[in-house]
Amino acid sequence: MNPKLNESEKEKTKKVLVTDHISEEGIKKLREFAEVDIELELSKEELVKHIVDYDALVVRSGTKVTKEIIEAGSKDKGKGEGKLKVIGRAGVGVDNIDVETATEKGIMVVNAPAANTISAAEHTIAMLLGLSRKIPAANMSLKSGVWERKKHMGVEVNGKILGIIGLGRVGSEVVKKAKGLGMRVVAYDPFISQDRAGELGITLSGFKEVLSLADFISLHTPLTKETHHMVGAKEFELMKDGVRVINCARGGLIDERALKDAIKSGKVAGAALDVFEEEPPSSGERELLELEEVVVTPHLGASTEEAQKAAAIIIAEEVINALMNKSVRNAINMIYVEEELMGAIKPYLVLADKLGRLSAQLIPKSSRTEQFEVSYEGEIGAGGVGAGTGIAGNTGLITVAMLKSFLSWFIDGVNYVNAETIAKKFGIKVTESKTETIENFSSLVSITTTTQSEKKRTVAGTLFGKDDLRIVRLDGFRVDASPSGYMLLCSFSDKPGVIGPVCTILGDRGINIAGMQVGREKAGGEAVMVLNVDSSVGEDTMEEIKKVENILDVKLVRL
Ligand code: NAD
Ligand code: MLT
Repeated sequence: MNPKLNESEKEKTKKVLVTDHISEEGIKKLREFAEVDIELELSKEELVKHIVDYDALVVRSGTKVTKEIIEAGSKDKGKGEGKLKVIGRAGVGVDNIDVETATEKGIMVVNAPAANTISAAEHTIAMLLGLSRKIPAANMSLKSGVWERKKHMGVEVNGKILGIIGLGRVGSEVVKKAKGLGMRVVAYDPFISQDRAGELGITLSGFKEVLSLADFISLHTPLTKETHHMVGAKEFELMKDGVRVINCARGGLIDERALKDAIKSGKVAGAALDVFEEEPPSSGERELLELEEVVVTPHLGASTEEAQKAAAIIIAEEVINALMNKSVRNAINMIYVEEELMGAIKPYLVLADKLGRLSAQLIPKSSRTEQFEVSYEGEIGAGGVGAGTGIAGNTGLITVAMLKSFLSWFIDGVNYVNAETIAKKFGIKVTESKTETIENFSSLVSITTTTQSEKKRTVAGTLFGKDDLRIVRLDGFRVDASPSGYMLLCSFSDKPGVIGPVCTILGDRGINIAGMQVGREKAGGEAVMVLNVDSSVGEDTMEEIKKVENILDVKLVRL
């Protein structure tokens, strides 16, 4: 989509700040519309100071767009005096942007998810072959004047098993190319249906199975709380002796210290890394980088003329569309709707975001979601609330908002436009039901998820007044909790002596309880306790709580 601008549409009063290198074609396009400043060397402090002057910020992965920067760029709540409306990411990964804060501040985050897929997949294959044939080491030694053939003996990839972790855009392209090299491919991706894998001519396997079967393992997942250090010491143990590992996705997926140990012990024959936990790598990482068995590139997966041009043009177009209040295809966190309707819908979109995220966190890791049922009860289901505002005809938008925030917990690049398509691709059946009948509330919105391996989980929320968000149901339990920050969900048998010890454990560890709610089926039956806590709860503390007599389960969620 190329927004054609006529003279009246040009708003040269808009200002765009570009803080990472993007292709000239994108800059040219932005300059047709706005005043563009390119500042590639700004410190974090300088960016916090400068951002107040800009309507849009355009970055790649180099700039860390932190809460502080976003708050300084926003106008909200007197924290910042800025006018930032959109953050453009010329690439796919948004893990360098605090999307949560941007969403809270009403700042749109847009990306260019497919622009560099082919380049990233080609780079992965280049790294695979560079690793298997020791090309970088051979290159270096010959250039230094040494003709050494025996030392650089490699292995063929033909006939070998490639294990793909993450079968999204890049993972799927790597599969196609690896098959062309005669490799056999196995893949793990809990959010992809077997049908999709079948289209690529491969079968899905479990995570551990892929780790234990593969001669080469290539990672292609986003970096999220779930995937951080998904490959560590325990996982290396499960791998074949002499396995080779490739990471062209995100630093942080592999525990680098564990990788170094596994290479030094001889368990892992080599690794090819394009991405690092810290970029540029810290001095602590040098030991890993300097190992002979390790092939490295400085985050070059998307560094081709084609990918950079495509990403820069897409992001320029999307930023211009956002600044012109036009619909934006690749919005990560917002949808464009007319102002009057937005006023009524906005609180429900915020509630939807919280419910979607809560549902995602209740699902056990690596369990595929099969059904996502949304229900609207009371006025919102009947049209009472919506009658004057248009919500009744637009619950679909709220459903998509829930789905988007649910899927975003697991996948990069989900937006209002593609959330349903992605759900379909992953084999998730999405349903929406409405009823006027309701007890106790004027409106109630709920999500029920069904996964392969677990019972249904239901979360429901409502608005008290105009915008006071509440979680009012967790599975069968009536609660009344504010969906913000950290929440500890404890299920227990309703017997005396449970609540006190849990609170004492938290108190002893300096964790402040901001709110507490208890709901139960019936006296003496199963009960649930929801604690809003002011800080995160560590694994050790969770383990302590699990040991309290009559506690059935404990889960920490973050909303
Ligand atoms: P994508 O969203 O299309 O695919 C990611 C896949 O990972 C999805 O299919 C998702 O279901 C899967 N996934 C999520 N959590 C998982 C888990 N716990 N276990 C297994 N699979 C899981 O993203 P993409 O465009 O294919 O990009 C993949 C990765 O590559 C991202 O991290 C992206 O930032 C990175 N990337 C890096 C470069 C580079 O320059 N090195 C270039 C492009 C993309
Ligand atoms: C991405 O997420 O798109 C890649 O890391 C590419 C990049 O921005 O360099």
